[in-house]
Amino acid sequence: MIKIAIMGYGTVGSGVYEVITTNQAVVDKNVGEELRIKYVLDLREFPGDPVMDVLTHDFEEILNDDEVKVVAEVMGGLRPAYDFTKRLLMAGKSVCTSNKELVAEHGAELIEVARAHGANYLFEASVGGGIPIIRPLNTSLTADVILEISGILNGTTNYMLTKMSQEGLDYDDVLKEAQAKGYAELHPEADVEGFDACRKIAILTSLASGQQVDYKDIYTEGITKVTVEDFTYAKKMGRAIKLLGVSKKVGDTYCAMVSPVMIGSSNPLYMVNDVFNAIFVKGNMLGDSMFYGSGAGKLPTASAVAGDIVDAARNLGAVTPVFWSQEKLALAPVSEMKHRFFLRVKGAVSVLGMEKIDAGIEGEVGILTPSMTEAEYQELAKGLNVISMIRVEE
Ligand code: HSE
Repeated sequence: MIKIAIMGYGTVGSGVYEVITTNQAVVDKNVGEELRIKYVLDLREFPGDPVMDVLTHDFEEILNDDEVKVVAEVMGGLRPAYDFTKRLLMAGKSVCTSNKELVAEHGAELIEVARAHGANYLFEASVGGGIPIIRPLNTSLTADVILEISGILNGTTNYMLTKMSQEGLDYDDVLKEAQAKGYAELHPEADVEGFDACRKIAILTSLASGQQVDYKDIYTEGITKVTVEDFTYAKKMGRAIKLLGVSKKVGDTYCAMVSPVMIGSSNPLYMVNDVFNAIFVKGNMLGDSMFYGSGAGKLPTASAVAGDIVDAARNLGAVTPVFWSQEKLALAPVSEMKHRFFLRVKGAVSVLGMEKIDAGIEGEVGILTPSMTEAEYQELAKGLNVISMIRVEE
């Protein structure tokens, strides 16, 4: 019998408990022996919940129990998750996590600590919730040069943008609705300012490049400035507006950014609505592929953590190599990234070579530029009275 522990009994932690206890038979079959939850770590009490039978408030109890071979870290945040994870790995226990903040910041180091102690650090749930994307990048696509990863990586903002587009609601109203439905946090900055998507594209770019991508180096814009008027123009052009994490190979490195993007109907991400996530991956041999599914929420995320627990349990003592070194990757400057740009401009303007879009909004006009670098756009914008700008991809 293999004993495991779950650290954190919040949304994801209680989900992991539910997945493992509900699917006990299939979990045991796939592990090849019985797998049981020996501890759940949380500071709180849960009167009346069966979890009370295994609840502990003491991390050291888990660390010092030789029977516990695999631990789920679903506490979130950097501290104390980082210290707990490192100490567990040093004790030879495998750790499975959904904690994208920790993976983005210390993933390469924790993978190395795990390897050095004959354990595994697995983080499938850190990007795309229940969608398998980490394992495919780390095992299936290792003979390809990854040319591009573009993704809808945040469920909350995708839900909000879908509502704005389909129901003509403005940003503040959809935020309130998302909060009421429990999709958005009460303090939703991580989602709406793009910070969550930024960490996820940093993790994916690290795996694509095999080096450490610092999320702080990634240019990040959220959805807080997207307006109903932007959707009026987008509809006129047959486009959708999505918050994308984009990473493209440029020479020996990658250029990465998070921002709202207008995409055309032929783009595979166009139809990805509501809380769903999708990750488009282009390999130099593979061509195009897309990973789509439930990108957020209790059970999809818990399903990915539980899948990692099964994997770790059936590979005890065997280290799965992860191609992510601690050597820092210097990203290409965003100023060299090329796109088309959509601008709302005040007054009647005439700019040579630009497509004009009249969406019937008084006192302004929409302009669609040809493909140009971010630096060229900055020059162009100086001569115009720009109300707002959204990048455009086909
Ligand atoms: N807040 C995140 C989202 C949760 O909405 O996608 C999943 O990482």
